[in-house]
Amino acid sequence: MSEKLKIGIILGSTREGRVSPQVGEWVLSIANQRGDADYEIVDIKDYKLPLLGEANAENFGKWQEKINSLDGFVFIVSEYNHSISAALKNAIDYLRDEWHNKAAGIVSYGSTGGARAAEHLRGILAECLVADVRVHPTLSLFLDFENGSKFTPRELHLTNVNGMLDQVLAWSGALKTLRK
Ligand SMILES: Cc1cc2nc3c(=O)[nH]c(=O)nc-3n(C[C@H](O)[C@H](O)[C@H](O)COP(=O)(O)O)c2cc1C
Repeated sequence: MSEKLKIGIILGSTREGRVSPQVGEWVLSIANQRGDADYEIVDIKDYKLPLLGEANAENFGKWQEKINSLDGFVFIVSEYNHSISAALKNAIDYLRDEWHNKAAGIVSYGSTGGARAAEHLRGILAECLVADVRVHPTLSLFLDFENGSKFTPRELHLTNVNGMLDQVLAWSGALKTLRK
């Protein structure tokens, strides 16, 4: 029997008081109910990466190893000035081959569902040879959070999260054959 695919749910923000862990845990709980892959949270905050090129990137090796070990990703993306957070862009920039020929889904949030940040991320992922899938759950800061801080997702997003995961698994499996 073939080994299960490994999918990292990447938390894309690091600020004090961030809501990305709540969103990531929600996606993980939906994913784990499927039982069709090994899903895990990957928190960029844990790696404390300085700006690329600065000293003291002690955890670079661990970051490299983690991304290298994964077959696909779900990016949890918050909108910062119509783009992704600087922390997420920096973490992506640290690596190159480790991203190549893998697939990703995006779950975004913001005043307009984080749509503008997600579209920026798609351009970045293309350069990293990451195939981003079409189904894209967009969470509203006004309708899916209380006071912009307590995550209370509407039921309707469940279908989209599962649809996104279906596509991520299909493409992660297909692209794995290119990396052998
Ligand atoms: C520096 C900054 C810029 C932001 N810019 C936008 C924006 O352009 N559009 C938007 O919808 N929300 C914007 N927001 C609101 C964030 O999307 C919201 O605070 C979200 O919770 C941030 O994600 P986090 O809690 O995981 O850090 C911004 C927040 C910050 C801190």
